[in-house]
Amino acid sequence: MNTFSGNRYINSFEETRELARKKLPKFIFEYIDGSAGTEYGEKTNRQKLKEIQLKPEILKNISSISTKQKFLNENIQLPFGIAPMGMCQFVHPRADRYLACLGRDREIPICVSTVASESLENYWELSEGNAWFQLYVHSDINFAIALVKRAKKVGYKKLILTVDVPALGRRPREEIAGFKVPFKLTPQTFLDCALHPKWSISNLLAGVPQPGNFGKNAFDRSGGRGIIDWKFLKKLRDLWEGELILKGILNVEDSVKAISFGVDAIQVSGHGGRQLDSMPAPIEMLYQIKKELKNKCKIIFDTGIRSGEDVVKAYSLGADFVMIGRPALMAMAAYEKTGLYEMVDLINHETGITMAQLGKTIMSDLSMKNVFRTPFQ
Ligand SMILES: Cc1cc2nc3c(=O)[nH]c(=O)nc-3n(C[C@H](O)[C@H](O)[C@H](O)COP(=O)(O)O)c2cc1C
Repeated sequence: MNTFSGNRYINSFEETRELARKKLPKFIFEYIDGSAGTEYGEKTNRQKLKEIQLKPEILKNISSISTKQKFLNENIQLPFGIAPMGMCQFVHPRADRYLACLGRDREIPICVSTVASESLENYWELSEGNAWFQLYVHSDINFAIALVKRAKKVGYKKLILTVDVPALGRRPREEIAGFKVPFKLTPQTFLDCALHPKWSISNLLAGVPQPGNFGKNAFDRSGGRGIIDWKFLKKLRDLWEGELILKGILNVEDSVKAISFGVDAIQVSGHGGRQLDSMPAPIEMLYQIKKELKNKCKIIFDTGIRSGEDVVKAYSLGADFVMIGRPALMAMAAYEKTGLYEMVDLINHETGITMAQLGKTIMSDLSMKNVFRTPFQ
């Protein structure tokens, strides 16, 4: 059983999000919170997650519950890691460092985005190896290959190729609030900063965050990432000796095809609802994909995980591991490093007590047998 002794600040994702909304300038909050289009896709996924009902089982001896998970040759101390998120330092100037320390202290994987504000070398060192590298291929394939070689040289064992951003999704809320990369001080963002002096002072002192992996290469956020195809995946498979994870799959056919290219895991993900408003609910696709693949390939799930019960639901529907995104950012916006640790500890604690209700002691025992009803069967 985990040894959670209670949090001082973080009680739930929803409460933390509201505090983050108050503390961050609007253009930053909208950047992290916003989703594609009308946000129907993001909300539908959350709704379906909520509607899944678990099946309690009584009188099972659960005195030895563990939420640890062994995944792709790693003993991970919690049932989830942190999804790759670019430009976290808009949230807090030390956000990437806090994440790296979290990886080290909790022994969980932190996925380092190609567009992280800290370099992949610093991340590896600070996290003491508890980091996986996430690759985006922008317009320059050679630059992407050079990043992969850098990651290999430093010691990374796991590479995630994100494939669900062929073009950057349109997120109207960040546009309306004036979020731009590179950052532009306009009358609107100036006023926004003035209304959030604490954020502004710490961020002004630290300087505008820059993508840590790019050096002198220009980073064009809105530029396409759609030049890669299945041939590139093959090339990457040949190049990368460690484990390769394909992130951003939302259809059964693609998941089957990915296995034939020798990936070690697929990541069923809707990019937090930030790419396609009309996406199928990722949680439903997890169920469909698991039904097709059975145990032929490891599956990671992300999008919409907000609590320990959500983690247990994802495992029950077929995930072998889970990643969380926005809860980590909202927690840092609300209570900096302490908030981040408390959020992670809370979700882990809730996972343990949910397992107890179901009469389960290890994550890998969770299956559809633990689900009473889903909104999509
Ligand atoms: C602010 C922000 C930045 C992100 N940047 C990246 C990125 O650089 N690479 C990537 O693969 N996914 C990125 N994502 C998507 C996450 O990895 C993940 O799929 C998503 O956040 C999970 O959903 P959740 O936020 O509902 O937990 C980003 C998400 C957010 C919220």
